[in-house]
Amino acid sequence: MIFDGSLLTHLHNARHIVVFTGAGVSAESGIPTFRDAQTGLWTHHDATDLASPQGFQRDPALVWGWYEWRRMKVLRAEPNPAHLAIADLAGQVERLTLVTQNVDDLHERAGSGDDIIHLHGSIHQPRCFACARPYAYPAGIPDEPEGGRRIEPPRCSHCNGRIRPGVVWFNESLPEGAWAKAKQAGGDCDVLFSVGTSSLVWPAALLPGIAAQRGATVIQVNPDETDLDDVAHYNLRGKAGELLPALLDVLRKFVP
Ligand code: APR
Repeated sequence: MIFDGSLLTHLHNARHIVVFTGAGVSAESGIPTFRDAQTGLWTHHDATDLASPQGFQRDPALVWGWYEWRRMKVLRAEPNPAHLAIADLAGQVERLTLVTQNVDDLHERAGSGDDIIHLHGSIHQPRCFACARPYAYPAGIPDEPEGGRRIEPPRCSHCNGRIRPGVVWFNESLPEGAWAKAKQAGGDCDVLFSVGTSSLVWPAALLPGIAAQRGATVIQVNPDETDLDDVAHYNLRGKAGELLPALLDVLRKFVP
């Protein structure tokens, strides 16, 4: 694989790199991306049915069933070469900040540490819809529910409210502090990678633009075109699990 010499120079000289990831980084671990997952069994439901407080109030069993299906996939999944390459890159630069929109824990399991900025929460930390108290899942990995199966959410032991997934839905704010930290890192970095995100969901999708405005080099890794194409200085078209390890390999041997 051949990478532009100027891209390698930017990476080689970078003091602080931000890696900003979306569902595409976990696609090669077998977790369907949001836009892909809404084909097939979920094709009849739009994002607001499945991922908004209003959707949950309208049909809690539909929403809980959808997230349980995704949670089972996450529990069975393993980090892929893209997650591993990002963890590896952190060891090669002075500072790396990892910002993800993903609610899985595959970056953590790949060795990226526990100070990852999760802009959209965690699928492993459900809480009560009514009183917000955390809920503990029963131990173990339950059988994978068939995609499309409705499941009644459990009830809160304190107030009997319905338990909801610990993720950020449409019409909800990002976790306190997470967006502020991400913006700060975006404004401070020399290079920002945008990996596997459609760049459609705000405010997260603003991060690469914030970095570019402050003079950072923006590198996008995605097999498809996105709204970020015009902002990114480099568009690497392909799968993250192939491109990122190859790029790291070349970078290790790079002499400016
Ligand atoms: N490598 C890199 N990119 C990939 C790969 C891959 N192997 N496979 C797919 N992609 C790209 C797709 O081309 C697409 O642009 O990943 C992107 C996934 O886009 P989305 O499904 O929209 O996921 P994301 O951008 O993370 O969604 C943002 O939307 O519903 C909300 O809160 C949810 O965090 C999510 C947010």
